[in-house]
Amino acid sequence: MYVLGIETSCDETAVAIFHAEKGLLSHVMYSQAETHSEYGGVVPEIASRDHIRKLSPLIRQCLQEAELASAQINGIAYTAGPGLMGALLVGAATARSLAWTWQIPAIAVHHMEGHLLAPMLETDPPAFPFVALLISGGHSLLIEVRAIGDYQLLGESLDDAAGEAFDKTAKMLELGYPGGPKLSKLAESGQPRYKFPRPMTDRPGLDFSFSGLKTFTLNTLQNSEKTDQDKADIAYAFQQAMAETLTIKCRRALQQTGLKTLVIAGGVSANQSIRQHLIAMTTTIGAKAYFPRPDFCTDNAAMIAYAGCQRLLAGQSQDLQITARPRWPIDQLLGLGR
Ligand code: KG4
Ligand code: ZN
Repeated sequence: MYVLGIETSCDETAVAIFHAEKGLLSHVMYSQAETHSEYGGVVPEIASRDHIRKLSPLIRQCLQEAELASAQINGIAYTAGPGLMGALLVGAATARSLAWTWQIPAIAVHHMEGHLLAPMLETDPPAFPFVALLISGGHSLLIEVRAIGDYQLLGESLDDAAGEAFDKTAKMLELGYPGGPKLSKLAESGQPRYKFPRPMTDRPGLDFSFSGLKTFTLNTLQNSEKTDQDKADIAYAFQQAMAETLTIKCRRALQQTGLKTLVIAGGVSANQSIRQHLIAMTTTIGAKAYFPRPDFCTDNAAMIAYAGCQRLLAGQSQDLQITARPRWPIDQLLGLGR
C-alpha cells in the first residue's frame, strides 16, 4: 500500500510517500519560517495562503521523486489537527479532494500521533509499550503508549509548551524566529554561571510548567548588562534547566510505569543537549531512549504518511466531509482494533 502523507498544521508544507513494506520512498518539505520571521512568529492567514501555493507542486515533486504515478497511490493521510484551523483546512481539503478524484480512502491523522510514531521510521525502531515525551511548539506531553491509539496521558504542560518557552526566551534574547535552534546555538558559547529553577520537580506528578522559568530568564536578563556573553550564559542556563526538568520527569514516568523504553519526539527533541541528558539518564537506569532523525523531529509528512498507513491498513478511513480539529486530545484516538 502506497500512502501519500500531507502535513500543513503550522508553517511547514510537507508531503511524503510511505509504502507498507518498502518504507519511506520520498519526502519533501517547504518551510515558511523566513516569511514569518519578520513578524516574530507564525501569522496564521499568511501560513494558510502559502500552503495553498506550495502544496500541489510539492505533491507533484514527491510523486516524481518516488517515481510513482498518481494512479499507484492507494491512500492519503493528512494532518487534521491539532494546529492552525486555516492551515489544517488546506491540507484536509486537498487530501480529501484528491482521494475523491483518485477513488481511494483518506485518513485524518493526529499531528502529535505523527510525532509519536516518527521514531518508527528509523532502522532500530522502539517496541511497544513505551513512555513518550512529546515536546513541540504547541504541546509538551508525557504519554504511556501501549499500542497505536492506546494512549494514557501521564502529564502535560499547564502553560507554555517546551518549544513555546524556547521561542519566547529566544525572542527576549533578540535571536529571532524560530527561536529554539538559535537559542541552542547560542548556548554552545555559554558558561555555567547562572542556576535557573527546575519547575515542578520538587513535588510529585508529571505535569510541566515553563512560564515561571521564562519569567526567571527575563528577570536575569534585565539584571544583567545584556552583553553577548551574558546572553550566551542565560541561554545556556535556560537550556540546562529545560533539559534537567524534562529528564527528571521522564525518569519519574519510567519508574511509575515500570517501562524501560523512552521515545522522545517533536521539534524540541532535535535539541542536542536535551538528547544527551535523556540518553545519559536512560543508560543509568537500564532503559533505552529512541529519537527520530533530526529532520523528522520537527514537522514533516513522513510521520503523517507512516501513522496514516497503519490506520488505513487497519481498515480505518474518513468519510467525504472536509473537517479539521484545531484542538484534539490525543487520548481520544481510536486503537487499530476498534
Ligand atoms: O514539532 P514542531 O516542528 O512543530 C510543532 O508541532 O509545534 O516543533 C517546533 C518547535 C519550535 O518551538 C522550535 O523552536 C522547537 O520546536 N525547536 C527546538 C529545536 N529545534 C526546533 N527547540 C530547541 N532546540 C532545537 N534544536
Ligand atoms: Zn509538530
